[in-house]
Amino acid sequence: MTTVSQNQVVVETEDKQDNLLRLPYFVSVEQLSADDVLHLLQRAQYFKNGGEVPALSRPIFCTNMFFENSTRTHTSFEVAERRLGLTVIPFDPSHSSVSKGENLYDTELTMASLGIELSVIRHPENAYYNEIIHPKEGQHLQMGLVNAGDGSGQHPSQSMLDMMTIYNEFGHFDGLKIMIVGDLTNSRVARSNMEILNTLGADVYFSGPEYWYDAEEFSKYGTYVKNIDDEISELDVLMLLRVQHERHNGADAKTEQLFDAKDYNAAYGLNQRRYDMLKDDAIIMHPGPINRGVEWDGDLVEAPKSRYAVQMHNGVFVRMAMIEAVLRGRKLGGLE
Ligand code: CP
Repeated sequence: MTTVSQNQVVVETEDKQDNLLRLPYFVSVEQLSADDVLHLLQRAQYFKNGGEVPALSRPIFCTNMFFENSTRTHTSFEVAERRLGLTVIPFDPSHSSVSKGENLYDTELTMASLGIELSVIRHPENAYYNEIIHPKEGQHLQMGLVNAGDGSGQHPSQSMLDMMTIYNEFGHFDGLKIMIVGDLTNSRVARSNMEILNTLGADVYFSGPEYWYDAEEFSKYGTYVKNIDDEISELDVLMLLRVQHERHNGADAKTEQLFDAKDYNAAYGLNQRRYDMLKDDAIIMHPGPINRGVEWDGDLVEAPKSRYAVQMHNGVFVRMAMIEAVLRGRKLGGLE
């Protein structure tokens, strides 16, 4: 078991076989208990500390299928896969038969038939993964899957790297005051994090324009604060979100007209005044990419309270742990 003392769970750095997570797929933080998260973070920390990766008994082919653009998630998964000794097969949607109309299930059936056993997928459709992890009657697809982000649904690997960053800083989650600020309704990062932070016992607050706050959904997970300055000096973690202009269409198109970058920066942006209001040991996080000068003044992105680069660095190790959990869950490469 993970050691617990006074709301603090001490992450062991040794390889503890009995604590290893085993999952058939990793698509949502809703799959995880608090213990699961802590065990995953423990394993990620083990990898970060230079712990030995498990030896595979045979080659395992995997592929990263990104139907939405990405820099850090895509590259980070590939680094994690290579560190684990997987054989990474390139996949480019724009040069694939998806451009001829092939659907996701048939694309995955093709991959599985070619010997690929693990896919990492980012897709614009919420819960796209259901057709892969719950094949219909008569369908026989077998594919390990890690969700690299589905529409505005979930971003479990971002969430786990965020948890690792917070945990490394404070050594616990209980009662931490964490405010998530910005384009909430469009954010899979906000959704994943508010859910898992509730599971882990943190106090979640939200702020940002009211047109991006849906009380019916979000109030179950935290408290909306209209004026960020009312709470900023009490926070342990200020988690900024990217304004996702590319998602402001359909029902959300009107918000693009209401949005003004200068006004947003004045009301919610991290500037020097707000930086100084934060506690000395508070940290600032952002999933990236950053709209500099909008969510975060550019000259503060690498300031001492920023954990932006640490988050990205931690991403490699949590992704190693997530992939390993699926390899073990499916008993691939001799792991179990
Ligand atoms: N945070 C994140 O998902 O960034 P990318 O879109 O660059 O992967």
